[in-house]
Amino acid sequence: MTKKKTDLEDIVSLAKRRGFIYQGSEVYGGISGFYDYGPFGVTLKRNITNLWWKMFVDGREDILGVDAAIIMNPKVWQASGHVDTFTDPLVECKNCNSRFRADKIDVSKCPNCGKSGTFGEAKMFNMMFKTNIGPIDSDDSIAYLRPETAQGIFTNYKNIVDTIYPDMPFGVAQIGKAFRNEISPRDFIFRVRELEQMEVEYFVHPDEWEKSFEKWRTDIYVWFKALGLDAAKIHELDVPDNDRAHYSKRTIDFEYEFPIGKEELMGLAYRTDFDLLNIQKATGKSMEYIQKGSNNKFIPHVIEPSFGLERVMMAVLAEAYTEDEINGDKRIYLKLPPELAPIKFCVSPLLKNKPELVKKAREIYVNLQKKYHNVMWDDNGNIGKRYRRQDEIGTPKCVVIDFDTLADDTVTVRDRDTTKQKRVSVKDL
Ligand code: GAP
Repeated sequence: MTKKKTDLEDIVSLAKRRGFIYQGSEVYGGISGFYDYGPFGVTLKRNITNLWWKMFVDGREDILGVDAAIIMNPKVWQASGHVDTFTDPLVECKNCNSRFRADKIDVSKCPNCGKSGTFGEAKMFNMMFKTNIGPIDSDDSIAYLRPETAQGIFTNYKNIVDTIYPDMPFGVAQIGKAFRNEISPRDFIFRVRELEQMEVEYFVHPDEWEKSFEKWRTDIYVWFKALGLDAAKIHELDVPDNDRAHYSKRTIDFEYEFPIGKEELMGLAYRTDFDLLNIQKATGKSMEYIQKGSNNKFIPHVIEPSFGLERVMMAVLAEAYTEDEINGDKRIYLKLPPELAPIKFCVSPLLKNKPELVKKAREIYVNLQKKYHNVMWDDNGNIGKRYRRQDEIGTPKCVVIDFDTLADDTVTVRDRDTTKQKRVSVKDL
């Protein structure tokens, strides 16, 4: 019997109990919109970013990587339009002083205190976090924590063309932190203030943008498949004109059926020549690309697939979270694709007070660890408890060393999804 619908609470609870995700600064009472990743969370996150990099950078000859600084010259954010337009409408209740995003609530009644007619006019609130550079706290020293990784790519476009001169079309990819002072962070890691993005800016000839956009639109499903996401739970939303970001002429949001409902997982945008043209205007430096073999010059247009790591984590956890019943007992396990699983194998001696079993199990553990790296030693509690723990972490295989191992050099390998056990020769592990 498999439970069909997963609640957000199930995922939050498992993520905490098994050391995947903790509330930021929890010991001090927490801080809204920030999360910390525990031992298994950080490995799952790395496995996701490694898979992304392998698929979109290392696995392709037309995409190169960069790693730009988080704090950039503030002129970047003036030219990109973020200083003027990266805003959300903010309303404040005159009765209880709670603040909300005006476009996310019914403003006739305060969702906090329940009073009607307590909101005034919405004010546009800029979501960029400000800081100051150097010892003097003045308007001249203001800088911003980047709200998107994309600008670190656009500002390096000229460097890459001048130093590497890739064939057109080509992409530049970056994975890194971004910061948004969200008015209402919510739903666990779905909307946070410190996030991680995985973005590609794909530079194309202006006549080719539609072809490239359509190619990305289908290629993205290979990524969803590698994450183990059910394609039937992914829905495309062609974002209407008035809802698109200021830089986009076309955007498709890929929505996923999260436990909180159908919401944006990632976006694919046609950014035109908006960013390169703005950099050219602001700096006076040419952003033109000279077509190889023709002397034909143009400012490339850009297709941008933009992936948010927290939302990927949440979708992967929601998809993997499974409940079933084994011999009448409820069991929870994470059906993670093996490439994403934070632990690949768990190795245990059947009994921890039998030195000969422990010695043999340690040998097997060390050999597997050398080969697969993410191998866990677990001799806590009885074997049933160890299996339950590993099921919740999403470990695909548990290897148990017992007295038969000493006699015939075979071990029990137990499968996470079926719970079936098999006797396997140590040399075949
Ligand atoms: N460079 C384009 C860009 O940043 P976006 O639609 O604002 O576009 C891209 O963000 C992706 O980043 C979203 O689809 C989402 O996955 C993720 N994202 C954006 N804001 C987020 C937030 N506050 N918390 C978690 N993820 C967020």
